[in-house]
Amino acid sequence: MIIAIDGPAASGKGTLARRLATHFGLRHLDTGLTYRAVAAALLAKGLPLGDEAVALDIARNLDLAQMDKTVLSSHEIGEAASRIAVLGGLRSELVRIQRGFAETPPGAVLDGRDIGTVVCPKADVKMFVTASAEARALRRTDEMISKGNAADYASVLDDLKRRDERDSQRTVAPLRKADDAHLLDTTEMDIESAFKAAVDIVERAMHS
Ligand code: C5P
Repeated sequence: MIIAIDGPAASGKGTLARRLATHFGLRHLDTGLTYRAVAAALLAKGLPLGDEAVALDIARNLDLAQMDKTVLSSHEIGEAASRIAVLGGLRSELVRIQRGFAETPPGAVLDGRDIGTVVCPKADVKMFVTASAEARALRRTDEMISKGNAADYASVLDDLKRRDERDSQRTVAPLRKADDAHLLDTTEMDIESAFKAAVDIVERAMHS
C-alpha cells in the first residue's frame, strides 16, 4: 500500500501524511527532508550548492533514520534545498532511495513534490494537497510564533511564493498534480477536517 501526497510548501501535506501513516499502520517519509539533509551537509561544509558531484556523494551516504526534522527545518536550509532540487543527477539518486523506502512492506505514505508523478507513479492513492498562498503563509507565521520564533507574514508570503515558483518552473520533476491525483484544497479547512477528507479519499480508493 503506497499513498503519495504532493503539494506546495506549508500546504499541510506533511501533517496529513504523518497522520494518515499512523491511521493506516504505514511508514512515513517526508521526502523534503532528503533534499534538506543534502543541502544542510553542503552548507555545513561551505561548499557551493551547484556542486552536483559532492551533492551526489552526500546523497549516496544518506541515512534516512538520522534525518532530524527539527534540525533541518530552518528557512535557510529550505531555500538551499529548493536550489539543489533542480539537479537532475541528485534527484535520480534521492528518488532511488525514496522508492526503496516506499516499496518496503507494509508500504508507506510519502510526501513531497513529485511522489505521484515520478517517485511512485503507480501509488494506490494519490493526493495533491494545496491551499491559497495567503492561507499557507498565515499558518506558517502562526507556527513560527507558537515555537517562540519571530515571524513576519509579508516576508513569509514572499518566500513561499518564490519557492513555489522555483519548484513549479524547474524542468526536472516540477511540482504538479498527477492526472489521477485527488485534489484536496485546505484553504477553508482546519487540520481535523482536512484529515477526515484525506481518510475518506484513501478509504474510497481502497474499496473501489
Ligand atoms: O517540503 P520541504 O519544504 O521540506 O522541501 C524542501 C525543498 O525540497 C522544496 O522546496 C523542493 O524544492 C524540494 N523537494 C523536491 N521534491 C520533493 C520534496 C522536496 O524537489 N519530493
